[in-house]
Amino acid sequence: MPQKKELTGKVAIVTGGASGIGHAVARAVAKEGAKVTIADIDIKSAWKVVDECKKLGGEAIAVKTDVSSSRSVYRMVDDALRQFGTVDILVNVAGVRSAPSVREVSEEEWDRVIAINLKGTFLCCKAVVEHMIAKKYGRIVNFSSGQWFRPVGAAAYAASKGGIISLSKSLATEVAGYGVNVNVVVPGFTDTPMTRSVFPSDEVFQTIVDNPALLGSGIAPLTGRITRPEDIANFVMLLFKPAFDNVTGQTLHINGGSLMW
Ligand SMILES: NC(=O)c1ccc[n+]([C@@H]2O[C@H](COP(=O)([O-])OP(=O)(O)OC[C@H]3O[C@@H](n4cnc5c(N)ncnc54)[C@H](O)[C@@H]3O)[C@@H](O)[C@H]2O)c1
Repeated sequence: MPQKKELTGKVAIVTGGASGIGHAVARAVAKEGAKVTIADIDIKSAWKVVDECKKLGGEAIAVKTDVSSSRSVYRMVDDALRQFGTVDILVNVAGVRSAPSVREVSEEEWDRVIAINLKGTFLCCKAVVEHMIAKKYGRIVNFSSGQWFRPVGAAAYAASKGGIISLSKSLATEVAGYGVNVNVVVPGFTDTPMTRSVFPSDEVFQTIVDNPALLGSGIAPLTGRITRPEDIANFVMLLFKPAFDNVTGQTLHINGGSLMW
């Protein structure tokens, strides 16, 4: 008899599901039978991920969403609820990188990055959490970065990612008694379009893949292998297993040992 998929009957929203880590998470939840809404500002790529999810046997829709806009977020959650009836899982992966330091960053850039990364995570949590409380079940996974702890000069990015940890701990405390768990995943240097965009060419990036030690102490994975989006997705999936029901309010690092916490 075929084994029952682990997320059969569950409904998920993955923000930033059109690319990189969010793409891998969307595929992973769909493969395990969840119905998934891919909420991304890049709607063309999001629909391609919908096709992939369907090929994996899942049900999926894409909703064009700007997570920094409450109107856009509430409309996306309404669409997801209309399509699938409920929401059990929210994975807030959508984010943008930003390089300027405190002295260099403009007020506009600061506001943009905080609005997408931090406010976007807040808005998505707020838009689903009452539904989760009402059904006494919910799993929320938010995304930080090693830069919250060890900034490499990117002021707004590091601040937004530190804020996500504080926000997540606050929410975890508020909802722990209602069956809603809130955790933060902190990827290390991961092979995604966001990471590749930092390098001048794919050839230069490949030299790092071939020799990750070049990244230097604190960023280079001790395992000798760059983290892949699937490594992060596999870890996120653990948080949806009944065996991990007692994990909430945690900040969980996946980085090949580059940063030990
Ligand atoms: N790649 C890494 O090494 C790394 C390391 C630490 C943390 N992270 C975090 O992981 C998350 C995913 O990163 P990634 O590398 O997969 O990035 P990515 O650029 O490949 O994907 C980010 C996705 O977010 C979407 N997005 C951007 N702005 C949006 C908005 N306003 N509304 C909705 N969607 C929006 C993009 O369209 C894209 O699909 C980010 O939050 C990032 O900060 C990544």
